[in-house]
Amino acid sequence: MRLTRRGFIAASAAMLAAPGARADVPLLRAMPGAARLAPDDLPETSIWGYGGAVPGPELRVPVGARVTRRLANALPQATTIHWHGLRLPNAMDGVPGLTQAAVPPGGEFLYDFAVQDAGTFWYHSHERTWEQMARGLYGALIVEEAAPPQADLDQALILDDWRLTADAQIDESFGAMHDMAHGGRLGNWLTVNGKGEWRGSVPANARLRLRLINAANARIMTLGVKGMTGWVAALDGMPLEAPAPLGRITLAPAQRADLLVDVTAAPGGEAILFAQERGEGLVLGALTVGAPTRAAPLPPPDVLPPNPVAPLGDMAGALRLDLRMEGGAMGAMTGAVLDGRPLSMQALVGQGKVWALNGVAGRAEAPLLTAARGRTVVIRMINDTAWPHAMHLHGHHFRALGPGGTGPLRDTLLVDRRETVEIAFVADNPGKWLLHCHMVEHAAGGMTAWLEVA
Ligand code: C2O
Ligand code: CU
Repeated sequence: MRLTRRGFIAASAAMLAAPGARADVPLLRAMPGAARLAPDDLPETSIWGYGGAVPGPELRVPVGARVTRRLANALPQATTIHWHGLRLPNAMDGVPGLTQAAVPPGGEFLYDFAVQDAGTFWYHSHERTWEQMARGLYGALIVEEAAPPQADLDQALILDDWRLTADAQIDESFGAMHDMAHGGRLGNWLTVNGKGEWRGSVPANARLRLRLINAANARIMTLGVKGMTGWVAALDGMPLEAPAPLGRITLAPAQRADLLVDVTAAPGGEAILFAQERGEGLVLGALTVGAPTRAAPLPPPDVLPPNPVAPLGDMAGALRLDLRMEGGAMGAMTGAVLDGRPLSMQALVGQGKVWALNGVAGRAEAPLLTAARGRTVVIRMINDTAWPHAMHLHGHHFRALGPGGTGPLRDTLLVDRRETVEIAFVADNPGKWLLHCHMVEHAAGGMTAWLEVA
């Protein structure tokens, strides 16, 4: 048999196309759609969403199962999906130019991976994230424990912050330099699961599991409840060592919290979820309370079963790195390296860059560090800017090391203005992993680096 060049190309193209063409794999189609984000007297909003909806379909799987989805791109732009917070094989991480090529309009990509951690995760576009996520390309990915805690309702609540025009359309000021250099793209309309308010009814004394996900481009949300009381059971998909009594909770962009709350309002009252904005409570959810489902609330919940994250290990022998965060409005940055060339601040701004990590704006050729697989890594993040940043590491969960001990496992940590914080993790997932600010305008504006686990 003579294999011609043409035949070879056709054969290898067929091999590449084969998984994507499998009809039995459920589709996740990124496409334009419309959503009723705003009140009824305003038009529907044109969005981009998975399945044309915002949020996209909730994916719910038992721990240990596989998530298999064929991304079909029906957008006018290239796209990818990042499975935020999942410790998955690098090739499934969805970072264009680092772990895969962006999927062109009309193209497809097969995502297929096992989930090893039970918890609240989410998925979102990772190409032109500052535009595509702002248009609605995200959804919840819930991984259920083998024995979930008792709850009468298990509800994912994806919070978003939209910048809408007077006729309820998405303001197309994506990636505006002013937003980029300041607090990111802040909106004027908050939604819960794509609605202005989450509504429903619930019996008194019911136990609710509320899985809060902050899908906003940049808004840090402070949340509270009324007519309910309870615990924070997990953060960023990872169970706390003990459920913590719920007070106000801060969720930076991309962060999640699993709440276990009991409805304490009397029948006829309301159980409320609110956001604290400029000293005012903004109602995000209001549930009408009905006749009690049991005589008294349930006893306090047990600890959720831990996920199999390696303990921090050899801290004395850890690989250490300082990560200096610089730039932004009211910063002192005078320049940084972009694409291997040192540029002045003015030249950087001309290239749409205004932040730097260790003197480099945007993703460099070289990783910040290369860690041997299994090595403990400590990164000291020095926020030398006038802005808080929600620093996210792909493929791993880490702990902040504080004077009061080590913090909970997280994949995204809010580092306050002028704050220095050390994080530590075991680099046990081979591949190329991004470390970036999840205020996605900051990431696009330069706060993106990566590290390698070899
Ligand atoms: Cu949720 Cu690199 O992102
Ligand atoms: Cu930031």
